[in-house]
Amino acid sequence: MAKNAPNGRRKQAVASPGAVAVATAPPAAAELPSNATWQRRHLLDVDDLSRAEIELVLDTADAMKEVLRREVPRVPALRGTTVVTLFYEDSTRTRASFELAGKVLGADVINISAKGSSIEKGESLIDTVLTLQAIGTDVLIMRHHASGAPYLAARHASFRVVNAGDGWHAHPTQALLDAYTIRSRLGGVRGRKVVIVGDISHSRVARSDLWALTALGAEVVVCGPPTLLPVGLDGCAIDREERDPSASLRTGLPPVRVEHDLDRAIEGADVVMTLRLQKERQSSGLLPSLREYSRLYQVNAERLARARPGVVVMHPGPMNEGVEISAEVAHGARSLIEEQVTNGVAVRMAVLYLMIRGAKPE
Ligand code: CP
Repeated sequence: MAKNAPNGRRKQAVASPGAVAVATAPPAAAELPSNATWQRRHLLDVDDLSRAEIELVLDTADAMKEVLRREVPRVPALRGTTVVTLFYEDSTRTRASFELAGKVLGADVINISAKGSSIEKGESLIDTVLTLQAIGTDVLIMRHHASGAPYLAARHASFRVVNAGDGWHAHPTQALLDAYTIRSRLGGVRGRKVVIVGDISHSRVARSDLWALTALGAEVVVCGPPTLLPVGLDGCAIDREERDPSASLRTGLPPVRVEHDLDRAIEGADVVMTLRLQKERQSSGLLPSLREYSRLYQVNAERLARARPGVVVMHPGPMNEGVEISAEVAHGARSLIEEQVTNGVAVRMAVLYLMIRGAKPE
């Protein structure tokens, strides 16, 4: 609970979600409602998050942005806690932003990559989890090439687990930062037409974005060649119009509209989000050639002219410039790609803070 200090300022309080916003006076405009609490032990996916839970993360990220704007962006909100990043796959943005998020909030942060750790000597995932538990980990941030691996870790751990990307399955904090970026830039997500272009089938980012953006009321259109879209997604959109709730059970995705022609998909779009095309999709026979893919699906200035005048362009990174996006668009005035990375720090601060301080006692 916040108390008045002798100088009249309110002291740091860490026991409620609004605490970061009151770390120094005056209280921040983004102070959270006192009844907003995070009740989940782990963050493994966004598919079961309610709209209110997503909005709690985004509102908390607003408070974290205020911390990041300070001359010395450091608060002791998570002092005495240990955050471990455990990455079995490469990462630049996710790992760096979680590390910085933890440090800004005063946590001790330990980074472990599979390469160079005892994992290379054959240590099992469960033994690694038990080892990290033994050193006093409070939150584990985990990326793994196998879908479901963070769920296994969560089953064996006494600490909290955040999925930082598992196989083709989910990347919840990327979806939250994408939703945050759209909300910050466009003033809201509800009713915005968001076109997600590319390899939806193999993209954990796309899956998580579909859940988060539809939960917030966006009109989501997915666009790509049929070989790179999940089977049944087309039917899912038809079923939505017929109000058949079994549609999303069949695809494992929320109902969205499918459009194979990017020029048509992009008409009237508020947001165009393109995904990295993994070049091995060509060798595995899912694409005739990269040149053909770029001709049909590259987000470039000519195509963007069909969107709304204020359209913004997003990409989770890393990018293949000249393949799924032109260099001109990637670095142009409509691009939010660097803003996504910047917002990733605030959103990951919000996630860490809510998971450690915002959870109701169990
Ligand atoms: N978007 C994303 O997950 O990027 P990294 O692989 O660099 O973390």
